[in-house]
Amino acid sequence: MAYSLLRPLIFRLDAENAHGLALAALKSLPSSLLASPPRPDPALAIKVAGLRFPNPVGMAAGFDKNGEVPDALLRCGFGFAELGSVTPKPQAGNPRPRLFRLEEDRAVINRMGFNNEGEVAVEQRMKRRAGQAGIVGINIGANKESADRVSDYAIMARSMAPYASYLAVNISSPNTPGLRALQDPEALGGLLDVVMDARGSDVPVFLKVAPDLLPEDVDAIARIAVEKGLGALMISNTTIERPALQSRHAGEAGGLSGAPLKQMALERLRDFRKASGGEVPLVGIGGIATAEDAWERIRAGASLVQLYSAMVYEGPGIAAAITRGLPALMKRDGFATIAEAVGSE
Ligand code: FNR
Repeated sequence: MAYSLLRPLIFRLDAENAHGLALAALKSLPSSLLASPPRPDPALAIKVAGLRFPNPVGMAAGFDKNGEVPDALLRCGFGFAELGSVTPKPQAGNPRPRLFRLEEDRAVINRMGFNNEGEVAVEQRMKRRAGQAGIVGINIGANKESADRVSDYAIMARSMAPYASYLAVNISSPNTPGLRALQDPEALGGLLDVVMDARGSDVPVFLKVAPDLLPEDVDAIARIAVEKGLGALMISNTTIERPALQSRHAGEAGGLSGAPLKQMALERLRDFRKASGGEVPLVGIGGIATAEDAWERIRAGASLVQLYSAMVYEGPGIAAAITRGLPALMKRDGFATIAEAVGSE
């Protein structure tokens, strides 16, 4: 059934219950009932960090925190799926309500606080799908009460590396107090060394940053990314800023995502492109909802894009809709492949 028909019903549910329902549906529906994935257009394939992505549109972290539905997401047409964030110990997260739809703004505010089942549960789930095709990244985080957050990232890199197409180091959630301090250049180099040592293989390491960064932070992070040979920089997580918003939930604490994040995330991507001189691949995230949005991000320097909030508003057909729309935009602008178009604006 078309998501637009179901949406009014789904939106009568509390946002977190609706999310639970979406996960349950993806888990239990036979693949024949899921949106049929478009046959991958070879022109959309792109190689990043040694991995061949069938298309550049990924599911962002936070939707499938515990790795329950990566293969269902791939069947929906996502070119890759990212699990997590996962922390060493299981964690309940913040008290509910902690997830809000800002319908008038096509936005979401969340202060989930890294609720997840923890390393052991996710590792067991990943073991069961080991060897299956498809690019599945694992996003790793630190426990709120951890006395040594850097060692949390090492624990997670060690345990998840065997199952991950790439590891995404998330130091940009606004909902774990103090976490974003790991973005400080003095802390960041050391953290990345620890993660790269701990993984015990050459599985690529991606780094996910906040959009709320000063120009000097952007320069320093880009320099460290190049120096350490990161597989990609992911720009960006949710923002703590509050641009003009209409919804009654606008005053809720947490990270804002969706349409109001779009311009800010695009500008930060451009900053990183400039600062890195194209030497490290970029993943564009934040407010992407259409093929035009994805194309704009690619032209601005993203080799890959991810989304989450648009899935809330548009449903599980969103990845297929975007990938269906991209070839016409490529043709319009005279590009035969995504790779050629990256950073061409
Ligand atoms: C997120 N996001 C997120 N990111 C991350 O690295 N680890 C996480 O656990 C989560 N959790 C999470 C929960 C919820 C409810 C939302 C809405 C978002 C951030 C997400 O991956 C993405 O970076 C932002 O949401 C911006 O993209 P969109 O939503 O504007 O497409």
